[in-house]
Amino acid sequence: MVYKQVVRKALFRLHGGDAERVHETTLKALRSLSPLMRFSTAGGNERTVFGIRFPNPVGLAAGLDKDGRALPAWAALGFGFVEVGTVTWHPQPGNPKPRLFRLRDSEAIINRMGFNNAGSQALADRLDGLKLKAPLGISLGKSKVTPVEEAVEDYRQSLKALYRFGDYFAINVSSPNTPGLRSLQDKGALDELLGELVATASDLAAGQARKPILVKIAPDLTEPAIGEVLDVCAAHGIDGLIATNTTLSRDGLRPADQALAGEAGGLSGRPLTERAREVVRFVSKETGGKLPIIGVGGIFSPDDAKAMLDAGASLLQIYTGFIYEGPGLVKRINREL
Ligand SMILES: Cc1cc2nc3c(=O)[nH]c(=O)nc-3n(C[C@H](O)[C@H](O)[C@H](O)COP(=O)(O)O)c2cc1C
Repeated sequence: MVYKQVVRKALFRLHGGDAERVHETTLKALRSLSPLMRFSTAGGNERTVFGIRFPNPVGLAAGLDKDGRALPAWAALGFGFVEVGTVTWHPQPGNPKPRLFRLRDSEAIINRMGFNNAGSQALADRLDGLKLKAPLGISLGKSKVTPVEEAVEDYRQSLKALYRFGDYFAINVSSPNTPGLRSLQDKGALDELLGELVATASDLAAGQARKPILVKIAPDLTEPAIGEVLDVCAAHGIDGLIATNTTLSRDGLRPADQALAGEAGGLSGRPLTERAREVVRFVSKETGGKLPIIGVGGIFSPDDAKAMLDAGASLLQIYTGFIYEGPGLVKRINREL
């Protein structure tokens, strides 16, 4: 309550309502405060998924801390794991601003950030020597300057630079904001990409078990297209699926937000809750519950979290719910699971 009535009100008004500047200020504050935060990742909900032990199943979704700038803070806020990135091999500024919009009545966000990030090597430098208290996922994407036909090498370079530091890797082929990226979900392209990345990870593992590789999919895929993705994942021994990324659909927006509905980019938050859960349910059914799924999209409450787990997810991630509900959401979910 205090978050929504006081903190959120103040944050949403800060910097004249410029959502991206507020995001930057909040990250900076978290980063400076993190040494003072007492470690408090909620326990009691431990689980082991794709060979990794998670203190609890509630993770921070990719995109909120792309460059890993506030890493110690997330475990202190109660998250059971963190996914940094999406990072790309080449550092890049992302799309022109404005590129982040809050649709308040709908409890949603539209973003077309375009993978603004300092590059894989910078993330590797930051992670070197850092001791983290919760498992770390690293999300990899394609640099904008790299043509889609050369995507495999771009992802491979990132995987090589970061392999030592991640507990798992998420192959992001579902962001709507990098031209051509979603075409990597097509059967032939995905087959080549995953084949190369699994082989690279096996080489890097040097005789040890290869670290888990997951694929993150869009909520806009049809069921037959998801089926094809699952076939390719199975053929390469992919360890799990992350469902879902943001949507291109504008269904479920409230009238007051219609003015922003035309902004290009991916929509997240409340309008995605149902669809993300449906995708998770479909994947779980198709794989007989055998492929671990990280369920993400529109989780705003303990009930949403439970419904996502009931649909077949083993782990959860949150982005937009964290912005609207505040950090208390993570602990509330863990208390009620
Ligand atoms: C501003 C913003 C940036 C994002 N950046 C990324 C990203 O870099 N990589 C990625 O895989 N997902 C990214 N996402 C998608 C989220 O990780 C998540 O899949 C999606 O927002 C649905 O969850 P939510 O409804 O809890 O936000 C981003 C989402 C937002 C709102």
